[in-house]
Amino acid sequence: MSTNNHIPINRPPRPPKPPRPHPSIAALSTFISNLPQNAGAQPPPLPSKLRYDVYGPLLLLPPTSPLASPPWSTYISSLPLQYQLDLYKALAESLNVTHIAINSPIPSKSVDNQNQIRAPQITPIYGSFGPLDSVEFEKVFWTSTVQHGVFQTWCPLHTMFSRGNITEKARVHDLVDRQLGMLRKRDKGGMRVGAVDLFVGIGYFAFSYLKAGVDVVYGWDINPWSIEGCRRGALGNKWRVRVGSSTTDSGDRDGVGVERSEEEERLVIFAESNEYAPTRLRRIKEDAEQRGKKWVHIMHVNLGLLPTSAGAYETALEVLGLNDGDGEAWVHVHENVAKEDADGMKSDIEKRFGELAGKVWDPEGFEVGVEVEHVEFVKSWAPGVWHCVFDVKVSWRRIIISSTGSLSGEGEG
Ligand SMILES: C[S@@+](CC[C@H](N)C(=O)[O-])C[C@H]1O[C@@H](n2cnc3c(N)ncnc32)[C@H](O)[C@@H]1O
Repeated sequence: MSTNNHIPINRPPRPPKPPRPHPSIAALSTFISNLPQNAGAQPPPLPSKLRYDVYGPLLLLPPTSPLASPPWSTYISSLPLQYQLDLYKALAESLNVTHIAINSPIPSKSVDNQNQIRAPQITPIYGSFGPLDSVEFEKVFWTSTVQHGVFQTWCPLHTMFSRGNITEKARVHDLVDRQLGMLRKRDKGGMRVGAVDLFVGIGYFAFSYLKAGVDVVYGWDINPWSIEGCRRGALGNKWRVRVGSSTTDSGDRDGVGVERSEEEERLVIFAESNEYAPTRLRRIKEDAEQRGKKWVHIMHVNLGLLPTSAGAYETALEVLGLNDGDGEAWVHVHENVAKEDADGMKSDIEKRFGELAGKVWDPEGFEVGVEVEHVEFVKSWAPGVWHCVFDVKVSWRRIIISSTGSLSGEGEG
């Protein structure tokens, strides 16, 4: 029998396979189809996707997530409690997490005492977060993440974490890495370089400086949960860390005691208001000098408080005033600003820093330069408002008055 007399069969093209739903949506779909008829109201149509962030074992839903707003939020709360838990369990398992919370934006209106520590506002909805009012670090839930190879950990009930700062962390790292590379070539490694973070939090920026190779970072924060997160984070990155003494420990607001900082320490965190930073660092410097050790050159000061860090400009300059000899350094000023006002703010910052620098370096004895070298638009904060970082370069040079009465900088002929 001949085998080559087949009539070619023209099959109709196969319809494209419907795209597979995301595991989280598939989990919701399975949950709903398994619900008994009498479980409650009719479920709303499935969302096409969920918006969320996963940090280690924590799923954080933004307030705009379909599950956090009607009709889904209303539907979920209409379900008997056990079904609500089953739904969240299914969702958690689909994303390989153990905890779920809904995030709310941190109120941005003011930096007054209402939320000075910038505590997050999250609503835990699944998993055990520990007692809300506990002051014991071990009793509450901690989570962590790794960004650009840097480990960070925090207690979501008590400290904020902003995913949007990731680009700024990388920028700070790369900037400092480049600067140190050039400095080490010139200086052959003799100079110890330091950075100060006046709002250190859980260490986002402090860790960028350390990863870039700064010898030591001194940090301040008034939130014990942030300090503990920063301490744990440093240990997780294998950086030697110490929580320094604090003015509040002694109950004496003016009593800034002697603080010895050993050279092997990479991070020292002070649990007190940053207004004490200049005095505390001066004591550390004096102690180092008495022991014949060299004081670090503070090359960067970070001011990461939003919506404005203006209250700390003077402190930042006082800290830079502790540097010996002529030099230059950078203050990274975080501010919320409308895009069209950023240029105006740049000029205002230069003017303000110029005025304040006159208090730190005697204008008769020093020539001081202040320049905003770069403005970084980090992330949109609210419609039309940007979280910006202004890199303020400050340089100072002692003026020598020669016998002929002419002025020159130190080291010049
Ligand atoms: C926006 S958060 C900083 C975020 C930080 N970059 C991080 O890694 O978490 C501001 C931090 O400044 C702290 N803070 C606010 N006022 C302060 C002050 N006067 N002295 C020291 N820390 C302060 C808050 O407790 C909070 O942790």
